[in-house]
Amino acid sequence: MTTFDELKSLLESNRSYRRFDASRGIADATLRHLVELTRYCASGRNLQPLRYRIVTSDDERDALFPALKWAGYLTQWDGPAVDERPAAYLVQCIDTRLTANCLCDDGLQLEAITLGAASLGIHGCIIKAFNADNVARVLSLPGYFKPLYVLALGYPAEKVVVTDTDGTPDADIRYYRDADDTHVVPKRPLCELLIG
Ligand SMILES: Cc1cc2nc3c(=O)[nH]c(=O)nc-3n(C[C@H](O)[C@H](O)[C@H](O)COP(=O)(O)O)c2cc1C
Repeated sequence: MTTFDELKSLLESNRSYRRFDASRGIADATLRHLVELTRYCASGRNLQPLRYRIVTSDDERDALFPALKWAGYLTQWDGPAVDERPAAYLVQCIDTRLTANCLCDDGLQLEAITLGAASLGIHGCIIKAFNADNVARVLSLPGYFKPLYVLALGYPAEKVVVTDTDGTPDADIRYYRDADDTHVVPKRPLCELLIG
């Protein structure tokens, strides 16, 4: 049984990483195990309309990469260099034959996958900034699969830490890289999350 402290520590470790050790791949079986975690997620109307396309080949990773936008707040950074690129992607799609709208299934499943990955030392980044038509085209997805999110995954090659904001609504929440090239993520403190 997982303790509260273990869960909290896993959540704390589950940061977004955007620079990876490109020499380390992720086994297809591991990616399948991560997708399998989504079977246990809650689902609106229990419709379970989300599907995953595993992307690991050099050709498909090279085709997908230019469609993705990385780290909007790091305006001077063009995204991971060739030797920092993700080992794999999971492209989360909705099967529009079942529904056009999955409520919050998408986020629940992404959290399950990233927590499972973090428990294995694999980290990544949830990416929404992409053109869905481009992604569908480069992966030759059937027209009824609409890409919702791209999850980039790999073994990290950067340090990421969390800091507390000053607790005010207009605090600067933009992530940044400090003088040591550590990626710093400001999080609002508990006192700000509680109403009253
Ligand atoms: C719904 C959603 C969409 C996101 N889209 C992008 C994206 O397009 N590109 C990117 O680099 N990061 C993206 N991220 C990652 C966020 O920037 C990241 O979660 C945020 O900076 C907080 O960092 P943390 O995940 O380490 O807590 C997205 C995250 C979420 C939850």
